[in-house]
Amino acid sequence: MELKTEVEKIIREFDSQALAAETVDALNAVRIRYLGKSGELTLILKGMRDLQPEERAAAGKIVNAARVRLEDCITESERRLQRLALDARLKTEVIDISIPSKKLPRGAVHPQTLVRNQIIEIFTGMGFTVEDGREVETDYYNFEALNLPPDHPARETQDTFYITENILLRTQTSTTQIRAMEKQQPPIKMINPGRVYRSDEIDATHSPMFHQVEGLVVDKNITMCDLKGVLDAFAKRFFGSDTKTRLRPSHFPFTEPSIEVDATCSQCGGAGCRVCKGTGWLEILGAGMVNIKVLSNCGIDPKIYSGFAFGLGLDRMTNIKYGITDLRVVFENDIRFLKQFR
Ligand code: PHE
Repeated sequence: MELKTEVEKIIREFDSQALAAETVDALNAVRIRYLGKSGELTLILKGMRDLQPEERAAAGKIVNAARVRLEDCITESERRLQRLALDARLKTEVIDISIPSKKLPRGAVHPQTLVRNQIIEIFTGMGFTVEDGREVETDYYNFEALNLPPDHPARETQDTFYITENILLRTQTSTTQIRAMEKQQPPIKMINPGRVYRSDEIDATHSPMFHQVEGLVVDKNITMCDLKGVLDAFAKRFFGSDTKTRLRPSHFPFTEPSIEVDATCSQCGGAGCRVCKGTGWLEILGAGMVNIKVLSNCGIDPKIYSGFAFGLGLDRMTNIKYGITDLRVVFENDIRFLKQFR
């Protein structure tokens, strides 16, 4: 058979087979049949070697043109089949956006945070600002400026984590009183919630890290009546409007006179129960009139200004509020405990 006729026949057969291929795999089989190592056209190309040089040029032209034609056809068909496959996928893989999604379990605000937010809301409602303080402090801010000189026996009640001889983890948020008074002259009316540290073993009522909220008011003519009024208003808003408070004398080096404030037990309303150990009262905070030595230490003239301060344990307030008897559950973040506050 003449070469040209033979090649034309191959092209015709190839065309009909390529057109009939419905998948990329089937098309690939066609390609191999004609253009593979021993494909029909490849064999003809190989046969060119045996031709006479004068015939070779003309024959080469015909066969090469056929090869290009076949290869182009394969590329084109491949594209067509891929497009078809994609169309088919797009049709079957529709995303139904109206199907309800998988429900992610909703978290809850930690009880500690709930109580802190409530305390902040009560005091900001009375015009207090909220200040932040440092957890790593110097001995001066944690003790000395607060009228606790190096050998003061009250230092022993606050087992301190020292970093160096002079640098420590604050044992009380009272440090922020000092920094606030150094920074600004009265009127000052602030609270400072934050973490404090004491070297205690962990048990139901102790933790080496716990939380306090410190409050400070300094202005002209501030008296014990202001202290009593503010803290009574706080207790009523925090525990309920029929809550009563009472003041007991106490001692803190940085306040003079010093008091402790009790509120009627929020569990039994004052009748006496397990929570208040039958007394009807719960101790809620320490407070007092800012010691004039502390005012002077901070450059505030005690002849012009006076003030009161208080410090409460946030963890204790949380425990009272939610009837928690073991402090550890508040820190351990067991999901079964936290879920109850959703
Ligand atoms: N800082 C004191 C404590 O940790 C509490 C307190 C603060 C008492 C302010 C009086 C005034 O015990």
